[in-house]
Amino acid sequence: MTAEQDERAFHALTQKVSAARGLRCEAYKEKCLRRRLAVRMRARGVHTFEAYGRLLDEDTSEYDRLLDALTINVTKFWRNAGTWQALSDPYLRELWRARRGDVRAWSAGCASGEEPYTVAVALAEVARALGEEAVFATAEARIDATDVDRESLERTAAAQFPDSAFAEMPADLARRYFTAVAPRRPLPVLQRLVRVRRHSGCAATTSPASRLPSLRTTSSCAATWSSTSTGRCRSACSRRSPTRSCREGSCCSARSRRCSGRRASA
Ligand SMILES: C[S@@+](CC[C@H](N)C(=O)[O-])C[C@H]1O[C@@H](n2cnc3c(N)ncnc32)[C@H](O)[C@@H]1O
Repeated sequence: MTAEQDERAFHALTQKVSAARGLRCEAYKEKCLRRRLAVRMRARGVHTFEAYGRLLDEDTSEYDRLLDALTINVTKFWRNAGTWQALSDPYLRELWRARRGDVRAWSAGCASGEEPYTVAVALAEVARALGEEAVFATAEARIDATDVDRESLERTAAAQFPDSAFAEMPADLARRYFTAVAPRRPLPVLQRLVRVRRHSGCAATTSPASRLPSLRTTSSCAATWSSTSTGRCRSACSRRSPTRSCREGSCCSARSRRCSGRRASA
């Protein structure tokens, strides 16, 4: 095979993966992408990009394994502390006040869950500073934790964190909101806010938290914030599923809450 043919086959394969799973392959360095593809090709005993493309057609579960191999999952609680501080005060504080706690956030590439739980802690701290712990305990706030990577979502749903995950988080916050002994768990008051779903950040242009257009990120800091108007639930009690536009749509966690009679409306 000539270098040109190889290049063409490589691009055809990455376009296929992007189209099927919404992963922006062009965002990766080509060398890195080739290395990771090679890992999966070796594991499946195929030697060309065309053959691997055919394998993906025949065995679509291979997409999941490929995505696991491609995605990078570096994360920490309170990662890039300065950004979280700036976000919390004044922006988040004002949003909380204006919405009386009815705040939506989207951690679009949540990795193993440290980011959505950092959002939950930031919200809890804003409420505490305003003397509104009781409001926080029952608030309609919601944090959608999505990722394209299956294993990341399983870890987010499990919500069990090693001590190393807290290296950048102020110790008093870690003490206040997480169990003491590793694997450390977020307290229920945080867990109730976080919903875990599979979602490719490229599959839709709107946040799964609402149908309002919004910013999103799959890297450090952070979640997408949106405040939505609330309206009555359209169906008597359909689940407050965060996304309609999610193309992949396979809900990863059983943590979806029942509709409480109000829902976000666009
Ligand atoms: C480097 S981690 C960052 C985690 C977290 N946002 C943080 O800053 O601490 C990037 C995450 O984005 C996810 N990701 C990459 N592309 C994605 C896409 N198209 N849609 C959803 N998640 C994606 C990866 O699986 C990975 O878990």
